[in-house]
Amino acid sequence: MLMDAPIETPRLILRTLRSGDVGEKYISWLSDPEVTRYLEIRFTVQTIQGAREFISAMNASEDSLFLGMFLKSRATHIGNIKLGPMDWHHRRGDIGLVIGDKVQWGKGYATEAIRGVTDYAFGVLELHKLSAGLYDANEGSRRAFLKAGWFEEGRRRDHWLSEGKWQDDIQLGCINGDAP
Ligand SMILES: CC(C)(COP(=O)(O)OP(=O)(O)OC[C@H]1O[C@@H](n2cnc3c(N)ncnc32)[C@H](O)[C@@H]1OP(=O)(O)O)[C@@H](O)C(=O)NCCC(=O)NCCS
Repeated sequence: MLMDAPIETPRLILRTLRSGDVGEKYISWLSDPEVTRYLEIRFTVQTIQGAREFISAMNASEDSLFLGMFLKSRATHIGNIKLGPMDWHHRRGDIGLVIGDKVQWGKGYATEAIRGVTDYAFGVLELHKLSAGLYDANEGSRRAFLKAGWFEEGRRRDHWLSEGKWQDDIQLGCINGDAP
């Protein structure tokens, strides 16, 4: 899916990605075990061509919005956030994100991006509910979603095998009107 205009948050621009946004740096993020330890992409070899094809497929899809997170101050690409797939019948959608540039971790950018996409999903796309699933040990992700006004909805036991240990899947959700 494409958007009419990028999403703007206090410090970020969230915009549709293009082929030209993918280069060695982008692939190095998605190949970094520290970045991907709680992401399913760690099971796939990442290539420039594959990443570009994924962007084209997302941009052509009718149910997913795949956006780059860019620092407003320097127009630097620091990560991606995806809204989708969306179920238009039930007006629901999933959110997933990655901040690939580890220097930018812990500065509140995930919280800000989740807030921005949550507002867009409810305000512009008129969705009713958003969901996200995460590994129990992913404390940074859990805190970012909760700070953005989401709630914990459930736990699926031993759902993921990560670094030789089973981890519960934590289901988070946000209903239009929950977030401040
Ligand atoms: C998880 C991730 C998105 C968090 O992004 P971020 O921009 O660092 O998050 P924020 O700065 O908005 O942090 C939100 C809160 O979590 C805390 N936090 C961030 N990383 C943390 C970590 N590794 N451990 C514990 N707390 C952490 C922050 O200090 C902040 O807490 P506070 O403001 O309540 O004190 C980022 O680390 C990342 O992209 N990781 C790799 C991919 C991934 O796991 N994606 C999520 C899949 S569901």
